[in-house]
Parts: sequence; C-alpha cells; structure tokens
Amino acid sequence: MDTSLARLGRGTSPQQDTFADNLLVGLAKAPKEIACKYFYDETGSRLFDDICALPEYYQTRTETMLLTRHAREIAALMGEQVEILEYGAGSLRKVRILLDALEAPRAYTPVDISGDYLAQVVRDLAADYPALGLRPVIGDFTETLDIPALPDHPRRAGFFPGSTIGNFRPDAALALLRRMRAGLNGGGLLIGVDLVKDPARLHAAYNDAAGVTALFNKNLLVRANRELGMDFDPAAFAHYAPYNAGAQRVEMYLVSLKRQRVRLRGREFEFAQGEPVHTEDSHKYTIESFREMACRAGFNPRAVWTDEDRLFSVHWLESR
Ligand SMILES: C[S@@+](CC[C@H](N)C(=O)[O-])C[C@H]1O[C@@H](n2cnc3c(N)ncnc32)[C@H](O)[C@@H]1O
Repeated sequence: MDTSLARLGRGTSPQQDTFADNLLVGLAKAPKEIACKYFYDETGSRLFDDICALPEYYQTRTETMLLTRHAREIAALMGEQVEILEYGAGSLRKVRILLDALEAPRAYTPVDISGDYLAQVVRDLAADYPALGLRPVIGDFTETLDIPALPDHPRRAGFFPGSTIGNFRPDAALALLRRMRAGLNGGGLLIGVDLVKDPARLHAAYNDAAGVTALFNKNLLVRANRELGMDFDPAAFAHYAPYNAGAQRVEMYLVSLKRQRVRLRGREFEFAQGEPVHTEDSHKYTIESFREMACRAGFNPRAVWTDEDRLFSVHWLESR
C-alpha cells in the first residue's frame, strides 16, 4: 500500500518560514502571542499524546468511551463505503474505533500539520488495516485544502475529535466549520466538543501535577530555538493556564519570569518581568451553544452523545 504523504496548501513551503513569520508578528504585538498550531512538531505531538494519558485530562478518556459506546450507531449514520476525512488527526488512535465499526470503509484521509509524526503513525495504521485506502495529507486545515475526490466519489464523512474546535475563537470556529462543510461534498461531520463545567476540573486538566502540559507549552520555545536559532531560556518562563469563566475558555500563557530579550532574524524582542505570551485558548461550549453554531455553519445537528457527568460531547452534524 502506498502511504506517501501529500502536502497541500501553504504547508508546501518550509514550516520554518511560517513559524518565523508568526513569531515576528506575534512577539511584536501587545499582548504578545504565538499561534497554537506551532505546538505540534514531532516532540509536541508526542507530548500531546502524553497529556491524553494524564489522570486529570478527562477529555480523551471520555471521548474515546463515547465513540466506543456509540460506534455502531455512528457507523450506520456514516454509511457504507465512506471516505473519512480527519482534521488534526494526531495519533490516529480514535479513528480505529470507527474503522472497526464501519461497513467496508473506502478510504481514510488524515490531515495534520505535524508531518514527521503523521508519517510515523500512518505506517502503524497501514500495517493494521492493509485493505484500507490511506491518503495522508500534511497541511493546515484552516486553509482551503482542495483534497482531490476519489475516482468513484464515495460519500465523505468528516471527523474532528479532541475538541480542537475549542482552540478557535467563536467567529473563527464558525468560519472553520463552514470551510469544512464545503470540503465534505454533502457529507456529515462527527465532532468532539468539550463542555462547560466546574472550573476546578478544567483548571486541573490544563495544570496537571506531573507538569506535562507545562512542557508542551514550553516546547514552543524549545522548537523556536532548534528550528530558528532563537535564544529563549525556557526555564525563565512559567506555564500559566487559568479558566476565564466569563469567556468560557481556558487560556494558556508563557509568563516571563524576568526582564529578558530574545532575537529573531536581526530583530530583538523585549519581555518585561511578569509579561504573558498568549499561546492557546480552549473554548468550552454547552450542547445547545455548539448546536446553534453548527446550524449557523450550514449543518443540521442530528445525534449528540454525552457521558453521565456531561464532561464531553460528540456531535453528528449533517450538511444542509
Ligand atoms: C488537540 S490535538 C488532537 C489530536 C487528535 N485529533 C485527538 O483527538 O486526540 C490537535 C491536532 O491537530 C493538529 N493541528 C493543530 N492545528 C492544525 C492545523 N491548523 N492544521 C492541521 N493540523 C493541525 C495537531 O498537530 C494535533 O495533531
């Protein structure tokens, strides 16, 4: 089976350039910011897998349980001979639950920005599912990717687990859902969405006792040093991830512990003691607020599954 990776969109230019551009713009802003998609080099993808296994990180466990519990119903909704298009596919673990339940899935097209990691996990999946058409794509799903249709145009179903939608501000999330709908050629979208809940539980999930989320956050600096020759001192920054209850989102920052300077491409950026760099948002929704957004994006929300504690939700959205 040919599992060679296609590069689509601006991802065809070297990652370093876009990361450098993002830093040059983001570190000149007040407040400073770095886009969260740059978390995911190979180390970042592995650290994210470690986060998924943490006791505090209820999201992965709960979503996996929901997918497993409702796999047959989901498979019936997706239909036979479907092509699954997964956005931000990561470790490719969750899709296995669907592949095992689906009737003769036609193809699987995982899209991820973390190319080296995608290449490795695709090899493992290909070994376990030798009959499956695998079409891995390195690309940025916030861009229009124009993933070519298969010759006989099988029905497409989108898969967007992990509550990655929460990393986008509501207006950007709406735009992303609209773009996904356009790329699904009339197919539905199965999407995992983290729910509004007790702030203490959210706080614990993003501030784990083992410090893995802190390492994941600081990996942005390590990556900038390695790929762009920058001179960040990761020990001089603190991981800070408070829940903003008014905006219903966890906000993640790297806070400078001292006055310091870093350089990139001949430019110097100064950090005051205590100055934050915003690195990620994780928006939380109610089932109703998410369904309302999905309607505005041109979907008909159909089934929704949640756990007994209403920690997490999985939605099946049909294209209108
Ligand atoms: C929160 S993780 C979720 C991983 C996996 N889907 C899961 O549910 O466990 C986000 C994933 O999306 C990828 N990603 C983040 N931003 C992306 C972007 N703009 N385009 C493509 N992939 C992206 C990351 O590399 C990572 O694998």
